Amino acid sequence: MAKVSIIGAGNVGATTAYFIAKQNIADVVVLDVVEGMPQGKAADFLHGSASAGFSRSTHGTNDYADIAGSDVVVHTAGIPRKPGMDRMDLLKTNVNIAKNAALNIRKYAPNAVVIGVANPLDVICMVLYRETGFPVERVIGMAGVLDSTRFQYFIAEKMDAWPGDAKAMVLGGHGDSMVPVPDYTSLGGFALPEIMDDTTIDALANRTKTGGGEIVKYLKTGSAYYAPAASAAKMVDAIITGKRRVCAASAYLQGEYGYRDIFLGVPVILGTSGLDRVIELPLTDDQKDALDQSAAAVREGVETLNSIS
Ligand code: LAC
Repeated sequence: MAKVSIIGAGNVGATTAYFIAKQNIADVVVLDVVEGMPQGKAADFLHGSASAGFSRSTHGTNDYADIAGSDVVVHTAGIPRKPGMDRMDLLKTNVNIAKNAALNIRKYAPNAVVIGVANPLDVICMVLYRETGFPVERVIGMAGVLDSTRFQYFIAEKMDAWPGDAKAMVLGGHGDSMVPVPDYTSLGGFALPEIMDDTTIDALANRTKTGGGEIVKYLKTGSAYYAPAASAAKMVDAIITGKRRVCAASAYLQGEYGYRDIFLGVPVILGTSGLDRVIELPLTDDQKDALDQSAAAVREGVETLNSIS
């Protein structure tokens, strides 16, 4: 029986747990340091089981021992952005939270696949990778799915079509320099450049880059959580059910696309053991330059990480 643990019972963690519970694919453990909060949220879920159609257990806890035996651990714990903040501004606080989580994941769930969700995403993935000591296959970052799903939505909204019929590819770090790739993006199987003019494509790609910021501006006290949680749950579902989904995700690169020793968003296939493989796509010079800039921003974050570790 599959088991998924969510570290952090804030908006992203609790909503991820909700989406997973709704899929009835695994027992869910929600863990937080705040006493009573994960227990309260889990109990609230369970009270609604009959109406929501939940058939698996949801358990709230403050005790890492309860994540034992997890197939997947989703790390969402950390502070979110507020207006005017860059995701990198969260680094110092969220690194310490991630380190503690990683050590506990290593101790209690040594066979789990870890999905990094907290920001700055690609740097936090590095912390999770280093501190768990897990193989590269078992530490993956979520945000390529989120950034692609936003791009899909903006395309579909523009064409008044169903977002699920759009396929999008957004590469690079989960930051302002992410790289939406219209050439590998389509609606109903039609390549984007065939159905939209360049100005429209650029506008949608730019909205994708600032999609997270758009929500921060509205909410003022925090950042997006429904779209991030839906994206994390999609990855959990792919791993637990073995659907072998193709998506963008932050992976530890060992020479792919010319990068080494860095987590960066690239197209991957997810298997039951996590990252099954990275798909290497040909990129134009402009796309590669943009990816280089995005990688440089992630590297700067890793240098800060190294200086405080
Ligand atoms: C976003 C944040 C959560 O993109 O990184 O919405």
